[in-house]
Amino acid sequence: MTPPPEVTVYPLDADPAALLAHGAPDLSPNVRGPIIARDPDGRPVFALAKFGAGLSGLRSAARAYPAGNTLRSSGVRNLSRSFGFVARNQVLQRNACRVCSGALEAAPQHAGLVAAAERLAELAAEIVPERFAADMGLVGEAVLPEWRMSPAGPWTSGVVNFDSPLPYHYDRNNFDCWSAMVTIRRGALGGHLHCPTWGLSPDGPSAVLPCDDGDVVLFNGQTLLHGVTPLQLMQPTSYRISIVYYAVSRMRECLPFDDEIAYARRSRSNREEHWKENLEAL
Ligand SMILES: [Fe+2]
Repeated sequence: MTPPPEVTVYPLDADPAALLAHGAPDLSPNVRGPIIARDPDGRPVFALAKFGAGLSGLRSAARAYPAGNTLRSSGVRNLSRSFGFVARNQVLQRNACRVCSGALEAAPQHAGLVAAAERLAELAAEIVPERFAADMGLVGEAVLPEWRMSPAGPWTSGVVNFDSPLPYHYDRNNFDCWSAMVTIRRGALGGHLHCPTWGLSPDGPSAVLPCDDGDVVLFNGQTLLHGVTPLQLMQPTSYRISIVYYAVSRMRECLPFDDEIAYARRSRSNREEHWKENLEAL
């Protein structure tokens, strides 16, 4: 494949803290993929591509995946549902790393979402090979292949966001590596990705990345401030769904599958023992 065209983007004099949790204005995309955007020192900032063949499988999987109602750290309610793997979490009394609940509730749809990780890995390897190799090295060293959605890619987990005009935010709890976001949509206006801290020239305008049907955005959501432009659904059947693939840093704690199950059993019995002791002490 011939490498996609490149564009230079420039850090803008914008205060990310003042923008956090605010909604993006109604801006239209001002870059077009396929493209790699680099900073003036040549470091990749984001890349745009098309998902291509296989989008219909991802579309039917995402549209039929059951939604949950998540309260994000920004305080905004978001109709979304995660997929892939989840790490241990004491607060949630999750004793073991495991596949997320959507895999049991909607197995075929979950499989469809997971399968797309392979295509995204292929795209990322083609478009931003140096960054992709670094991400594979970072996650590959820390996370066992069985906890990644595709051994070909670094991503352990993902989220399906249904019709969510998310305010400006940074992603959290991930490895310092790039995510891949695919959008599927019909009959919707707006809903593009605004990056207010990066300009197409040193004086702006800031970059608005297209999220049209089948568009893929590759970027580091932990360091690049991003928000979704206002979304208008034109008909009752309209939708705009983003599917984001990322690598959760706590997945580094996950043991091989069988050991993880044994660990979970031990943790549970330790906890029950602890409760028993506490009760007996009353
Ligand atoms: Fe995000």
